[in-house]
Amino acid sequence: MYVCLCHAVTEQRVREEIANGATTPRQVAGGCRAGTDCGSCVRRIQAILGHEGARPCPTARLAARLGLAAPEEAEEAAEVAA
Ligand code: FES
Repeated sequence: MYVCLCHAVTEQRVREEIANGATTPRQVAGGCRAGTDCGSCVRRIQAILGHEGARPCPTARLAARLGLAAPEEAEEAAEVAA
């Protein structure tokens, strides 16, 4: 499945970047350019990073703590923080 349509980057490619040490969307972008054009894929990349055990997005955690995140985002942030 494509994560970044602007650069035709698949979820598998993002996971390869994570396996190679990327822990932030910027580091993922450094390896495959995902997220460097329109930016609409960055949240998905952040979610993949969270599921891979990498550092969760601090903004998402804060939004969840303040009750500002959408229910699924709050749930995801809580899972990552646990
Ligand atoms: Fe990834 Fe546009 S979809 S930068």
